[in-house]
Amino acid sequence: TKMLKGFPKNFLWGGATAANQLEGAFDVDGKGLSSADMIAYVPKAERKNDHAIEISSERLEDILAGKVNARFPKREGVDFYHHYKEDIALFAEMGFKVFRMSIHWSRIFPNGYDAEPNEAGLQFYDNVFDELRKYGIEPLVTLSHYETPLGLTQKYNGWLGREVIQHYVNYAETVFTRYKDKVKYWLTFNEINVMTMSPFTGGGVVIDRVENKQQAIYQALHHQFVASALATKRGHEIIPGAQIGCMLARIESYPHTCNPEDILKAQHENQMNLFFTDVHARGEYSNYMNRYFEENNIVLQTEPGDAEILKNNTVDFISFSYYMTLTVSAGPEGEKAAGNLIGGVKNPYLQSSDWGWQIDPIGLRVTLNTFYDRYQKPLFIVENGLGAYDKVEEDGSVHDTYRIDYLRQHIAQMKEAIADGVDLIGYTSWGPIDLVSMSTSEMSKRYGFIYVDLDDDGNGTLKRSKKDSFNWYKNVIATNGEEL
Ligand code: BG6
Repeated sequence: TKMLKGFPKNFLWGGATAANQLEGAFDVDGKGLSSADMIAYVPKAERKNDHAIEISSERLEDILAGKVNARFPKREGVDFYHHYKEDIALFAEMGFKVFRMSIHWSRIFPNGYDAEPNEAGLQFYDNVFDELRKYGIEPLVTLSHYETPLGLTQKYNGWLGREVIQHYVNYAETVFTRYKDKVKYWLTFNEINVMTMSPFTGGGVVIDRVENKQQAIYQALHHQFVASALATKRGHEIIPGAQIGCMLARIESYPHTCNPEDILKAQHENQMNLFFTDVHARGEYSNYMNRYFEENNIVLQTEPGDAEILKNNTVDFISFSYYMTLTVSAGPEGEKAAGNLIGGVKNPYLQSSDWGWQIDPIGLRVTLNTFYDRYQKPLFIVENGLGAYDKVEEDGSVHDTYRIDYLRQHIAQMKEAIADGVDLIGYTSWGPIDLVSMSTSEMSKRYGFIYVDLDDDGNGTLKRSKKDSFNWYKNVIATNGEEL
């Protein structure tokens, strides 16, 4: 076979979103509350970290008792719920082949454990899928994107409860059966590794309710792994030709120097990150985790049959988000770099975004090669993009050349990776339309080709308009990545 130059003919170009950051309508048509609905906007000056997505028991009780005076932007999103036709028409105008979205689990099962699904919720996604189909856009659907029904938190402390596996599988079966003729591409969990950084956002786990935090995190993850494998199994049985993938927040760690101590540290960090795709792609826990579990007093409670479930139901493809790389040092750490959930040592060769994330296009080529060497499975980049402050000119235009530059450089490296022999099947940039930030609940952190008139305080008309990047991306798709 010859070296592939350029993108394959059926390459899936598009954009990626999540229900809780996009839809709004958090209490409409029978939807129940979810973890995302509990996350308030905290202005930067009052934030302790780069993010504000964890919650304590006390705070949760206060929110539910109406004692917290704050805005909850993920309840409002950018009101895709009532604008989906207009928004999908704009995606179609850019020539999208695929649209990544999530189903808000609590629209379908308001408490997570209900006996019957909510018909109005099911109908909404039927409408969205039909609208996409009108334009020949393939949906790529995440079953769980930081949207655990709050009922599951209250009843089981989220994914810490083994019972949640069954509720999730029931939810998955319900939507697979309902949409089997409309949706072929599925992801089981968004950035499954985020549980280790934020148990509440990753799995509806209120961590101050448990004693051994690390133990609880990996126990909840074990439940997600089993659930993911079971959903993969049922998806393959219910939907002919289904393509079911896992999803990792991939963070390649570079050693700070060539000191073997740094190399070892970087290798360890990479293992801790690739562990999640190892389980999904190889169907088993990697040996290196045994040592980690032992040294951190983690004893997993498993059931007979779990290992077999994992082994027999590996994923069809690997998907991941890519925003940055990290540099790690075994010695006393130097100047810190930021990330949405994780930081490292500052890499002097890289520039940073307005939020301090280190921009590393070549790192994407490295990442793609690492994955492909390890698994030889098709790869799908389901998130990448630049969160930046945009300025609206008097005539309404937004000249986002910085965003175009960022995407151009990353797409150019994707092309290189394809020439390296990597099997890359698609690319969905994050937030093709501006939406609420996951880590900070800001609106001012914008990723879109489409501008939404809404600010951090919730003011604005919600009017949609095209940024310069809109026509740029449209041409990228039209030329299948030839003109960047
Ligand atoms: C990923 C998430 O971590 O990063 C998305 O899957 C998120 O939900 C994206 O929006 C960008 O992060 P942020 O914090 O800038 O919105």
